[in-house]
Amino acid sequence: MAEDGDVTITWLGHATARIESSSGKTILIDPFLTDNPAFPGGASSVDKVDLLLITHGHHDHVADAVEVAERTGCQVIAIYEICAWLESKGVKNCTGMNMGGTVSWESIDVTMVPAIHSSTITDGDKTIPAGIAAGFVIRLENGFVVYHSGDTTVFEGMSLIGRLYSPDVALLPIGDHFTMDPRQAAEAIRLLGVDCVIPIHHGTWPILKGTPEELREQSRNIKPLKILAIQPGESVSQQDMV
Ligand code: NI
Ligand code: MN
Repeated sequence: MAEDGDVTITWLGHATARIESSSGKTILIDPFLTDNPAFPGGASSVDKVDLLLITHGHHDHVADAVEVAERTGCQVIAIYEICAWLESKGVKNCTGMNMGGTVSWESIDVTMVPAIHSSTITDGDKTIPAGIAAGFVIRLENGFVVYHSGDTTVFEGMSLIGRLYSPDVALLPIGDHFTMDPRQAAEAIRLLGVDCVIPIHHGTWPILKGTPEELREQSRNIKPLKILAIQPGESVSQQDMV
């Protein structure tokens, strides 16, 4: 666990991640809890949420957003169209934004960056357009920078994200089929120039077959590189990531 003032990141299975910031704020990304076969459970995982970020509208990223937002009263940041939908469901404190923008909240800077993926919301029997899929660069109060790519393939713009924001850690999907596979994720690591990676969006279902071992093999020539292949429910501290 982190020392006081450090950042802690916990993987809650699939693309769901919790960041505890240096000043004690809890950020939850892509809440997929109830239907997530990889969610480790434990109400304490989502008892306290100060800031909720949503990368795109697919069920496996937005499923529990309304419930978490209403129960915790947290601030929500997502693309404009997703915020409009959340507000239509009664969620308060939504800040809609778009690509390239930065929203500052409690000394935490959240920048929305591109992802190459689709984005719709399934609402009952309706499918609603949800803008475009995004990733987030999150600069915490102590200067530590986290990049959560959302669902995406690798793209050359990742080199811009690396150059502009120099993330300290990247949460990258490796499962294949709906996102990058481990070979593409290794190229993403090269483009980002990042030294520490937490693989996500793998193993949830058999179809997401990319593994951290394959990522290690594909990225063996990248040095220095830490691949923190944690299990759902496990945490890493800032010291583990630098
Ligand atoms: Ni998706
Ligand atoms: Mn997904």
